[in-house]
Amino acid sequence: MPNTDSSQPSTPGNGASASARFAPMVAQLSAEIAAARNAPELANAKARALGKDGALTAEMKKLGALAPAERSAVGRELNEAKQAVERAVRSREAALARAELDARLAQEAIDVTLPGRGAGTGGLHPLTLTIERIEAIFHSIGFDVADGPEIEEDFFNFTALNTPENHPARSMHDTFYVDAPDGKGGGLLLRTHTSPVQVRYARRHQPPIKVIAPGKTYRVDSDATHSPMFHQFEGLWIDEDVSFADLKSVYADFLRRFFERDDLDVRFRPSYFPFTEPSAEIDMRFADGPLAGRWLEVSGSGQVHPNVVRNFGLDPERYIGFAFGSGIERLAMLRYGVGDLRMFYENDLRFLQQFNR
Ligand code: FA5
Ligand code: MG
Repeated sequence: MPNTDSSQPSTPGNGASASARFAPMVAQLSAEIAAARNAPELANAKARALGKDGALTAEMKKLGALAPAERSAVGRELNEAKQAVERAVRSREAALARAELDARLAQEAIDVTLPGRGAGTGGLHPLTLTIERIEAIFHSIGFDVADGPEIEEDFFNFTALNTPENHPARSMHDTFYVDAPDGKGGGLLLRTHTSPVQVRYARRHQPPIKVIAPGKTYRVDSDATHSPMFHQFEGLWIDEDVSFADLKSVYADFLRRFFERDDLDVRFRPSYFPFTEPSAEIDMRFADGPLAGRWLEVSGSGQVHPNVVRNFGLDPERYIGFAFGSGIERLAMLRYGVGDLRMFYENDLRFLQQFNR
């Protein structure tokens, strides 16, 4: 700081220049400011210099008592002293901010040389894997894949399938009924099988009709081999000359490809469905393994009833074919050796992870 007036010492006996008058005080205050370790300490140091009761403020207050000539000289020096202290505050502020940033950067530093945590990849549910497998096999022999609504009209689930109201076969398919907003019902229900998709699909396609339709189905059923919600896949092949022999060969061939083995027996056991005639349950058994020798029902099937062909919008004198409806859980149980179908729905990762290694 240039000293322009050194002739008027204000401190008796001191004899120093005017700026030297405040130099020790500025040095002292600046040292305290520089020693502040954080923002609150800096604020305190600043207040001790420039605050209401600060050292420099106290000097300002003394100015009034000085003679006018001296007052302006001392005032100027005091101003310079104040500016010096303010510079010290700003420089400490900047230093503290830098230090804080450095500390944060050091703390948040990412060590890019560490091995990654590895994102766990999810996996497909065993029933999804089973459905994909079924679709791939049927697709490879020319079947289309379709779906239909799970909340179905009574007409498609029953009536169009030759199962009019009060038909005794309806009692085997107790289900969940949907209330319409007016509380009156409205003929909607959770479909009890995938067979309604036969009718929906056949009404919108011309023969040859060759389709499978996998999806969720619902019944009032619950035990180790029955679930209230389960999956079926419907199969339908309609043309001018599709016979029951075709059903037997297509389905037996499907099972051999699905299980990847030739040593399984397939049996067509006479049965009854309103929408097929003749009708058969399809049973299968393995020659060895934990289930060796036990027949298991995997599907219902039959030659499509003429009344149903008519409901497709086709002439039953000309078109003929077969349909089947198979339980997807049952096939998955057999393929993976699962004893209780409810395990598919418990979401136990120890069970599910075994299908995605
Ligand atoms: C039917 O549902 C007929 N719609 C099948 C059909 C289609 C016959 C086309 C003829 C022509 P069924 O009620 O048998 O049939 O059921 C077929 C298969 O679904 C059964 O063999 C079984 O594998 C499976 N299934 C039936 N109910 C359940 C259930 N609650 N839980 C798990 N699987 C079931
Ligand atoms: Mg059955």
